[in-house]
Amino acid sequence: MSQFPVREKFLPYNVPDITDLEIQEVIDTLRSGWLAKGPRTVEFEKRFAAYLGAKHAVAVNSCTAALHVALLSQDIGPGDEVITTPMTFASTASTIVHTGATPVFADIDPRTGCIDPAEIEKKVTPRTKAIVPVHYSGQVCDLDRIYEIADRYGLFVSEDAAHALWSRYKGRLIGNRLRGTASYSFYATKNLCTGEGGMLVTDNDAIAERARVLTCHGMSKNAWNRYAKGGTWKYDIAEPGFKYNMFDIQAALGLRQLERLEEMQARRLKIAARFQEAFGAIDAVEAPSVPDYATHSWHLYVLKIVPELLAIDRDQFIVELNARNVGTSVHFIPVHLMSAYRNRFGYQEGDFPHTEAHFDRIISLPLYPTMTEEDTEYVIAAVRDIVETYHR
Ligand SMILES: Cc1ncc(COP(=O)(O)O)c(C=O)c1O
Repeated sequence: MSQFPVREKFLPYNVPDITDLEIQEVIDTLRSGWLAKGPRTVEFEKRFAAYLGAKHAVAVNSCTAALHVALLSQDIGPGDEVITTPMTFASTASTIVHTGATPVFADIDPRTGCIDPAEIEKKVTPRTKAIVPVHYSGQVCDLDRIYEIADRYGLFVSEDAAHALWSRYKGRLIGNRLRGTASYSFYATKNLCTGEGGMLVTDNDAIAERARVLTCHGMSKNAWNRYAKGGTWKYDIAEPGFKYNMFDIQAALGLRQLERLEEMQARRLKIAARFQEAFGAIDAVEAPSVPDYATHSWHLYVLKIVPELLAIDRDQFIVELNARNVGTSVHFIPVHLMSAYRNRFGYQEGDFPHTEAHFDRIISLPLYPTMTEEDTEYVIAAVRDIVETYHR
């Protein structure tokens, strides 16, 4: 490996940014006598909604839960079709399957990795009920075009905003003035983390009400409060629901993380800007291009290799980064190529050329607030060294 000075310590692909503030809030919660869904969860919902300028935020135990409930709130089920992207995590599609509906994939715009509105329109049939666009990596989908299609065909839009906390479309936060729903993830690697967790956001009263019931066993309103003074032991099951609610230890983390969001984002932006500058100057890799309408949250930094200029492929590039003690990931292995989707829905290689070409070229580099300038420069130097070693 040339003369490259490999650092001693492995640089992980992601490390959550947890400070004494979050730790103290968790300790206070543990001492408070209320661990399940309670006052902190309700406070987190309020503050999250206020941050986005949204009417309702329903705290759940994952983004997967939020995506599932968003579709159920529209009674989407067997016989229906829901259009989404294959360039996503499995749960965007599996939650469609869990409703009984059929996931219909539409190819991506290769510039952003987000679903291409023109491809969505090609997939609309009389059975189509909804679109689930994914704001991939923290880029944003071209929402005006997507909502224009949704309006024309009468479709519901459930935005997968797992990566898009802080992202903006035409200057407005994702989640602000929503016409459907947005689902957020607070999984350990996300820009705001509660270990596991999520939020369903909507301006629609009926959706919020249904989501509150569905995420708490189908119990009637405010049943979570039944053990408090003034709470009632009586409840009804309005419909068979799910155990999808967030609880107060998660919310303790969420409250403090939300207070620190701008500070954490400032750090992400600084690292991303340095990556953009450095990788923009290397011909054998392609830095992310951010459209004029988008403000990127930099949840992921997805670097693309240019295979024509390299003697190694993406997989080998990752091995080389690993040998230089740099951790990476790949977002994502296209969902249509997973055996469950091939076997059940007949998808196969070649179905989505832009998605597959994207997959072949991508590497998610480390990018998180606790990375130092030295870490950032090291990642750049490692990529540069691999390119110089294997340039054609
Ligand atoms: C695009 C996307 N959607 C949904 C999810 C599911 O999030 P969660 O793990 O909170 O259920 C993820 C998880 O990483 C994701 O990347």
